[in-house]
Amino acid sequence: MTNILGSYSSLHPRSVQLYQQALQMFPSGVTHDVRFLPPFPLYIERAQGCRKWDVDGNEIVDYVMGHGALMLGHSHPLLVQAVNSQIAKGTHYGACHELELTWANWVQRLMPSAEKVRFTNSGTEATLMAIRLARAYTGRDKILKFDYHFHGWHDNVMGARYAESDVPRVSGVPMGTLENQVTIPQNDVALVERTLAENRDIAAVIIEPSGGSWGTLPLVEGFLAQLGEATERHGVLLIFDEVVTGFRLSPGGAQELYGVQPDLTCLAKILAGGLPGGAVATKRDIFALMEFTLDMEWNLCRRVFHPGTFNANPLSAAAGTAMLSHIADGRPQAHADAMTQRLVPAMNKALEGRGIPGCVYGLSSMFHIVLGEDCPRPRDGVEWPWDAANGASPPRTKLDIALALKRGCLNNGVDLMGFSGGLVSAVHQPADIDFTVEAFDRTLGQMQEEGIL
Ligand SMILES: Cc1ncc(COP(=O)(O)O)c(C=O)c1O
Repeated sequence: MTNILGSYSSLHPRSVQLYQQALQMFPSGVTHDVRFLPPFPLYIERAQGCRKWDVDGNEIVDYVMGHGALMLGHSHPLLVQAVNSQIAKGTHYGACHELELTWANWVQRLMPSAEKVRFTNSGTEATLMAIRLARAYTGRDKILKFDYHFHGWHDNVMGARYAESDVPRVSGVPMGTLENQVTIPQNDVALVERTLAENRDIAAVIIEPSGGSWGTLPLVEGFLAQLGEATERHGVLLIFDEVVTGFRLSPGGAQELYGVQPDLTCLAKILAGGLPGGAVATKRDIFALMEFTLDMEWNLCRRVFHPGTFNANPLSAAAGTAMLSHIADGRPQAHADAMTQRLVPAMNKALEGRGIPGCVYGLSSMFHIVLGEDCPRPRDGVEWPWDAANGASPPRTKLDIALALKRGCLNNGVDLMGFSGGLVSAVHQPADIDFTVEAFDRTLGQMQEEGIL
């Protein structure tokens, strides 16, 4: 009988061939860190709804969902129509266009704190801009962030995937930049207060309002509100990185769901309907820093500078407008949440049925899996059972277990986001969820047979 790795290779011969070519072109053969999967990643040929098909013809239920951008699934007819119709009218006018107003208007209508908006090309660019604005607004240099919170890959926010104490130096990031970043564990408001009091040069606090790494490390109840009060008391700006949570946790993102308004909001993913795009939205008049004044003789140094060839690109504006107008009533999000509620307890039941230590937990339409001896069992349903409130690190699945889970699930027709989680869309249906639970259970059984679990 072949094992998980053997089946993975024999099911995907064309992906093996393509990866051999890719190794000659890209570092480690991939174009995004999360796509690295030894001994080779899968190559996808087409996708529709919540499914995708690889180059060997295998059908896969997708939980990567465009890294969380595809709330309406792959190639939703509304989005296809919007992009097709725009492409025939032009892809780049090098000028202002009406659709950028419509797109921004949806952001203003949906996001409680969005008084003004500026479009960027990605979430990374959005956090870069928010931090630049916060520094310009306060005249201070330091940024306070939290362990495990991911805000893209520019120099100001690096090291986010690990507790910073694990990574004292990030390759290629100047020491001076790292020195302007203060990083602490989440969920400890007394520590936030102390850090803000001791560092009068902090411009802003940036946070993923789901908790670190899209809720891998959940926030304790009330932390966002306490953070809002603490930042206001210390005259520090609060940045919500809603690149994942925006339009997902509710039409108005985490800020609507939890009733906490940040000073600056970073958006991307769902915002642009599956095409590249991002935005910063502000509550106060922070964008005054970006306004031109005609008596300034184009003195760019005195204002916050923001060019960008593809800002508010018409194709992204078309897809984004179609997406936001369709999800504005919250029904798609409610469906995705309900599907996640069907999935998570059933996956926990599968773990329990097989006596495997581990836990599946989630927030809204996002879920995470931890497996193995070091990982706790779920307590009373789907809540995370470790002591996040006291700053405990989340349990980590060992790499060999995570790799086997990822490959095994792919063999059984399910693609997880990274090695251990997923994003559920508005087009996943109960039958897809039930298929996924069976695939997960079968994978667990195969891992047990091989002695991996
Ligand atoms: C919370 C968060 N912020 C920022 C980013 C960076 O966005 P992008 O990949 O569009 O640059 C990501 C990407 O996954 C993210 O999850």
